[in-house]
Amino acid sequence: MPTFPLIPKKVALVRTRFRTIQTPLPVPESLPILEEMRKYEPQSMGGLPPVVWKTGENFIVHDYWGNRWIDWSSGVLVTNAGHGRQEMIDAIVEQARTGLLTNYLFPHKLRGKLAGMLVKRAPKNLDKVFLLSTGSETIEVAIKLCRTRGQKIAASKRVIVSFANAFHGRTLGSQMIGGIPALKAWIGNLDPEMVQVPFPDGFRCKDLGFDLFLKTLQKAGVKASNVCGVILETYQGGNASFADSAYMRQLRDWCDKSDILMIFDEVQAGFGRTGKYFGFEHYGVRADIVCCGKGISGSLPLSAIFANHEVMDLYPPGSMTSTHSANPVCCAAAIANLELLDREKLVENSARMGTVLHEELKKIHEEFPGRIGAVHGKGLVAALQMIKPGTEEPDADTAFEIVEAAYERGVLMFSPVGYGGASVKIAPPLTINREALLESLEVLHEAIHAVLHGEISAQEPSSAPRSQELQFRG
Ligand SMILES: Cc1ncc(COP(=O)(O)O)c(C=O)c1O
Repeated sequence: MPTFPLIPKKVALVRTRFRTIQTPLPVPESLPILEEMRKYEPQSMGGLPPVVWKTGENFIVHDYWGNRWIDWSSGVLVTNAGHGRQEMIDAIVEQARTGLLTNYLFPHKLRGKLAGMLVKRAPKNLDKVFLLSTGSETIEVAIKLCRTRGQKIAASKRVIVSFANAFHGRTLGSQMIGGIPALKAWIGNLDPEMVQVPFPDGFRCKDLGFDLFLKTLQKAGVKASNVCGVILETYQGGNASFADSAYMRQLRDWCDKSDILMIFDEVQAGFGRTGKYFGFEHYGVRADIVCCGKGISGSLPLSAIFANHEVMDLYPPGSMTSTHSANPVCCAAAIANLELLDREKLVENSARMGTVLHEELKKIHEEFPGRIGAVHGKGLVAALQMIKPGTEEPDADTAFEIVEAAYERGVLMFSPVGYGGASVKIAPPLTINREALLESLEVLHEAIHAVLHGEISAQEPSSAPRSQELQFRG
């Protein structure tokens, strides 16, 4: 992935109700901070646009020098209820003031309350939840539970099927079960009982039929009776790609026939991102295990894995734990976050604004058909897969330039992700309103134009000045 040079560049002045760019970028005064990070941290931490965040306010991110961006990253799909929400700050401060900042597994009030709130929001069959800190941890537990259960049924029932191009995290197990070979090349000894099949996304894999799943397993010599679980991202995160519901129903039936657990990785898709509370609801199928993180707390590190009690209680007291499981301050944040999602009907807003987003993206796709290979997503998540002219080859450089051009105009995304690192990913907080969404889409359009045709100069103001007041909170 290209990195952003730490050389300030003069960019056009931007001043709208939601965006301000009034300095060169990166901001010259920010260079010592950025250079310190580049010096002391692994370079892997340095891939994102070099904005030094000071604060976040709903769907806007501020730096220290008066610049403001419409945030299309939500951190990395975390701030579903918006940045800097007072209700969350109050809950965090109130819990911190009690003096209980950590407690390992000793009981505390908020843990039970949060567990209850989560289970009540999940489908009925998922009657237990285990609270952890990161999404990857929930994947590790999912692997452990489904293998443990499988081996209780038959010693050979150990195979876990996952999908090509899937991302499930960066710990050992979550990388092994992932479907991106480059990310697991370092492991050396891959688990032969973790097998990947193509994900029918309609672009990189155009064969949407379930037969491909069956044929791939047959070719790999895998019998259904030896499979203990199938794990998939509800949508493939990098490209925001969903499978067909018909495919998912066939997969569900196949799992049921051979007593196989179906595990949805909802670390990105959960808590309203796709316009439904849980993204897998789009498929109309039952989930046996659901892994969540990111938007569950909207802020502090907290994740959760849901399952039925028969699966969740496979391990006796003390043998499936984690030091920071259900940290009380993180629980306070998550409770406030869930309350905000409900009270402000943010899942519904995600669906409503998602319609606007996808209608506009469709128009952009139609304007650049030879350079945008596909636009996928639902609700407030989308990705534009950039391709090289006249091919379907991923075009990572162009995707990077689009992200850069948008950042220079006051719309902030993380660097391209997905297949070949060529997907421009859009994931604003679920609180975004129509006006801000349309304004940011205009910026995206302008950025694509500027990169592909150079017709709209980055040196010109990108919008007529509007009121600078921040009236959109809450
Ligand atoms: C779909 C998916 N699963 C798992 C993870 C891992 O979550 P974490 O980074 O919290 O470990 C991620 C993170 O981006 C993800 O997108």
